[in-house]
Amino acid sequence: MARAPVAVLGIFVADLAFRAPRLPLMGETILGQGFKDGPGGKGSNQAIAAARAGGDARMITRIGRDTFGEMAQKAWAADGIDTSAVVIDETAPTGAAFIFVSTETGNNAIIVESGAAAHLSPDDVAAAEAVIASSRVLITQFEQPTVTALAGLTMARKHGVITILNPAPAVEVTDAIYGLCDYVTPNETEASALTGLPVVTEDDALAAAKEFVRRGAKNALITLGGKGALLHGEAGTHMVPAFKVPRVVETTGAGDAFNGGFAVALAEGKSPVEAIRFGCATAGISVQRPGTAPSMPTRAEIEALLASG
Ligand code: RIB
Repeated sequence: MARAPVAVLGIFVADLAFRAPRLPLMGETILGQGFKDGPGGKGSNQAIAAARAGGDARMITRIGRDTFGEMAQKAWAADGIDTSAVVIDETAPTGAAFIFVSTETGNNAIIVESGAAAHLSPDDVAAAEAVIASSRVLITQFEQPTVTALAGLTMARKHGVITILNPAPAVEVTDAIYGLCDYVTPNETEASALTGLPVVTEDDALAAAKEFVRRGAKNALITLGGKGALLHGEAGTHMVPAFKVPRVVETTGAGDAFNGGFAVALAEGKSPVEAIRFGCATAGISVQRPGTAPSMPTRAEIEALLASG
């Protein structure tokens, strides 16, 4: 089967991940229990997840001409990602992310500086029209300017491409953006920040999902970590449970794993619920490994987990 084409409009940054029992207080220094650098950025992580899950992933972004930019090119080449819509920005460095990973829970806290990708513009989207038009799905996030995400979703709609907005990190946007989304995929925190509603229980998630639909999204898909994901909209209302995993090592990038896997499955024509299960399996494997992009599973691994039930 030909690999299903998925365009990813987003950023690459170098992840600098520190493991420690807790974050330091202001003015305090604490000793770490591990450090690792590697490829990151939500867009790039989603492209790598999509490629390993069996998709023909195409990256639309900007990077600098520097060591972190070389890290990006190496990571994309290793996973066969199309880089014809990647611009080398001569005026800005590739970005980086500070990632704190709790040695107690595997949970994370992140500061991301988008670097060259902060200059990703609607003109870059226009230049990538052929890449978008020939894709089945376009996925974007909010780590580059929101006006660029809006341009990407608009371009995808023009060509009948399925649109996914992963609104991460949550930033203020006009409601008009939701009208361009076939799927909007926040986690609980983002759903709460964007709707102003508390999102703790499944009922809360449904109320938030209804709010995204009221604002114009065809479907809202709220990811609920270890509980799974709740879908509401044209595709109906479904709670899809997460896969039980023996040990969570690191949750950083789990949302990207989910979104990358979900995008490929949709691009292959799977039903929304099947695509969510595929996304949950992708994320369920990634949380058992350290790192973000490096933790993304292969198609064979995803299928083995799906087959095991
Ligand atoms: O979703 C995880 C990603 O968010 C990290 O790779 C980090 O770079 C930030 O962009």
